[in-house]
Amino acid sequence: MDRKELIKKYIKFFKLKKHFEIRNSPLVPENDPTVLFTTAGMHPLVPFLLGEKHPQGKRLVNVQQCIRTGDIEEVGDTTHHTFFEMLGNWSVGDYFKKEAIEMSFGFLTKVLKLPKERLAVTVFGGDKDFPQIPKDSEAAEIWKSLEIPKERIAFISGGVATSDDNWWGPAGKTGPCGTSTEMFYWKLNDVPAPKEFNPEDDNWVEIWNDVLMEYVKDKDGNYNEAKQKNIDTGMGVERTVAILNGLEDNYLAEMWKPIIEKIELLSKHKYDESEEITKAMRIIADHLKAVIFIMNGGVVPGNSEQGYVLRRLIRRTIRFGRIIGIENFTTKVADTIYSIYEDYNLNAKKINLELAKEEKNFLKTLEQGLRVFEKLIQTATGISSKNAFLLYQSYGFPIEMTRELAKERKLKIDEEGFQKELTKHQKLSRTASAGKFKSGLADNSDATKKLHTACHILNQALREVLEDENIFQKGSNITPERLRFDFNFDRKLTDEEKRKIENLVNKKIQENIPITMKEMTLDEAKSTGAQGVFDSKYGEKVKVYSIGKFSKEICAGPHVQNTSELGTFKIKKEQSSSAGVRRIKGILE
Ligand code: ALA
Repeated sequence: MDRKELIKKYIKFFKLKKHFEIRNSPLVPENDPTVLFTTAGMHPLVPFLLGEKHPQGKRLVNVQQCIRTGDIEEVGDTTHHTFFEMLGNWSVGDYFKKEAIEMSFGFLTKVLKLPKERLAVTVFGGDKDFPQIPKDSEAAEIWKSLEIPKERIAFISGGVATSDDNWWGPAGKTGPCGTSTEMFYWKLNDVPAPKEFNPEDDNWVEIWNDVLMEYVKDKDGNYNEAKQKNIDTGMGVERTVAILNGLEDNYLAEMWKPIIEKIELLSKHKYDESEEITKAMRIIADHLKAVIFIMNGGVVPGNSEQGYVLRRLIRRTIRFGRIIGIENFTTKVADTIYSIYEDYNLNAKKINLELAKEEKNFLKTLEQGLRVFEKLIQTATGISSKNAFLLYQSYGFPIEMTRELAKERKLKIDEEGFQKELTKHQKLSRTASAGKFKSGLADNSDATKKLHTACHILNQALREVLEDENIFQKGSNITPERLRFDFNFDRKLTDEEKRKIENLVNKKIQENIPITMKEMTLDEAKSTGAQGVFDSKYGEKVKVYSIGKFSKEICAGPHVQNTSELGTFKIKKEQSSSAGVRRIKGILE
């Protein structure tokens, strides 16, 4: 079974069980500062998991493109990917544990026809730091009733605070979360699955995670019982396709193999030549695929946020390319990725232009780094941890490269010290990116709701003050402290214009306008002149939020009830965001 067929079968199975198919959300989430990228199918659903009514009902299904960059340094094994597709089904306050587990089991054994003998599951085993959250014997009993023997059911303890194993979420710092039950498949074809399941054994591959969402984590770190119980599941497409085809390495599956083959061709190395070559090829394939999907979402390499992650991925790709002896290769390999995902119609031309430019620039930095290296070694008898780290950090030298250069010159290198520096740095950057996970719409707080409503007013105010009906929102990001709003416009705003925009927003706030919401089909929304994204599935229902006659937008919500709740709007900054796009940062006082 191939990727497309798996996706089709999954969607069909859940549609038959009354789920509505929702579309893939953008990889860079709209209005959600809790994350840089969509990391799971549940992300765009957070407001609904917290109680907002979903216009499509209480049962949803989709395939979602996801990016996880938590530990890109760890990519290189057989199953972890930076970009992957996730199949998911949701109950938004509808069915719960029993039905969810039975449906998962039904899909695995009846549709995918996976033999029960090769399946095992984990369930939440309790956490001594959170005695109020009990061990999930109920889930274990449900699995037993489906004839999963007790030796194949592992209780996993701990993990609540760290969101490990059998605890999932919240996606950011706050929001819906809960215990989970995960499904594993024994991947070896010539060794029968052991009677007893050992979750530590890598030959058991996790393929599906059913999150039983019963809690909401608040900003003080408390886990409160949720008003609405939800189900959130995620099945990895890549892993599942690999096991369905009897492959022990995901990179041999159809969504990876052509990429690897292209890299083999360009480098004249064989994928299984050595551990080092295999790993480098996997990293190149993995990163480049992520790069392409991120760029397809409109992100360009830069020095902050998504642009920075993108730049790091491109640079690592190029560095690993050098290890296997290839240069100026990214667009050639990218072409195989466009073919694999022809169903997504990726913007190949634009991406390749940008990619080639970034590759050229980075090669220049690498050359500078080589000159710095030569200089460093003139006076030294070895490479100190500090210098190895300087080369790594400022010139993008992987340690393997510094090691190799040092070996050629018969110099010693303080790798242990380098690793220490690296760990210290990674901790810092993790803390820095954890700073990202400030509460946003995920917390549904009053502050974020107000700023969200202010975004809608600002959107319309820009069109009126700048007298341009073709101004549209290009992105937005809200924290409880401020809003950030991107829109297409090709020059800096004058002070006079900024003042007029503020005045118009504040005038609307003072008019005490009630905010109303109506559900309708996309076609209806379009015909009423609502702003928003219209590339959607036929018959899909959406919510349209109106602020009097002033503004009308398709939006998931939530919003405040009346503009009078907002206070006073102030523009703090107006700057360029990317070519032809301006960015406003604003606050409410
Ligand atoms: N949100 C859950 C996950 O990503 C399903 O594993």
